[in-house]
Amino acid sequence: MLLGFNIDHIAVLREARMVNDPDVLEATLLSANFCDQITLHIREDRRHTQEFDLENLIKFCKIPINLECSSNEEMIKIALKYKPNRVTIVPEKREELTTEGGLNLENDRLKTSIKMLQNENIEVSLFINPNLKDVEMSKELGVEMIELHTGHFANLYNAFFSNISKTPYKVLDMDRKVLELSLREELARLEFCAKKGANLGLKIAAGHGLNYKNTKELLFIKEICELNIGQSIVARAVFVGLERALLEMRTLLNESGYQHR
Ligand code: PXP
Repeated sequence: MLLGFNIDHIAVLREARMVNDPDVLEATLLSANFCDQITLHIREDRRHTQEFDLENLIKFCKIPINLECSSNEEMIKIALKYKPNRVTIVPEKREELTTEGGLNLENDRLKTSIKMLQNENIEVSLFINPNLKDVEMSKELGVEMIELHTGHFANLYNAFFSNISKTPYKVLDMDRKVLELSLREELARLEFCAKKGANLGLKIAAGHGLNYKNTKELLFIKEICELNIGQSIVARAVFVGLERALLEMRTLLNESGYQHR
C-alpha cells in the first residue's frame, strides 16, 4: 500500500500567519524520505497551498507529486503549466471546510479537462464517492485511476469508536445500532467499488479522514494500492514530530504486506 502525504495541512499553519514558517518545501523534502508521494491541493480560494508551492515541489521534490484541484479552467491551466505526475480532480465548494463529497461526473467540463491533461502525459485520477455508477462512469471517462472518498466511512468510524457524538465536533448523530450497520455497509461499499474498479483496469486509491485507527480497516482491501492522508499525520506530528508521525503511518500500512523501498 503506497502512502501519499497531503502536505496542505502544513500550509494551513503557514497561512495562519502569512510567514514562511513552517516551510512547505522543507516539510516536503523531509517527508519524501518516509512516503511514496506528496499530494497537494490548490484550492480556488488558495486557503492553504499556493501556486509557488507547486512550482517548488516540482523543481525540488524527488518523489511523485499528485496535484488535487477542481476541473475549472484556471486550475487546469496551472496543472498544464507545471505538469505534476498526476492530477486528481476533486469537487470544490467555497464554503466547505474540506472536500466534502466525491465529484459530480456529469459535469461537461470534466471530459475536456481530462483530455487536456492526458495529452500532456499527466496521469488523471478522479475523486469519487464509492458507488458503482461513479466507478463505471470514471472508466468511461478514460481516466487511469480513481480515488474513493473515505470521508463518510471515517465519520461513521469516529462516531462509533469515540465520544465525538457528545462533543461540539459531532459529525453524525445516530443510534448506535444504525451507526454500526452503516459503518459495515460503507466498508463493504468501499471494498465492492475497489474490486469493481480494479476489474475494469483502474488503479485504486482512497483517502479523506483516514487516521491511525480507521486506516487499519482498509488494509484488507487488496485492490487499494494507495492512501492519501494528511490531517491525522500533521496532528500526530504536533506530538511526536513529522518524521515519526510518517514512520508510524508507514509501519501501519506495511501491515498490508506492501513494504516501502
Ligand atoms: N484525498 C483527497 C482527494 C483530498 O481532497 C484530501 C483532503 O485534502 C485527502 C485525500 C486527505 O484528507 P485528510 O486530510 O482528511 O487526510
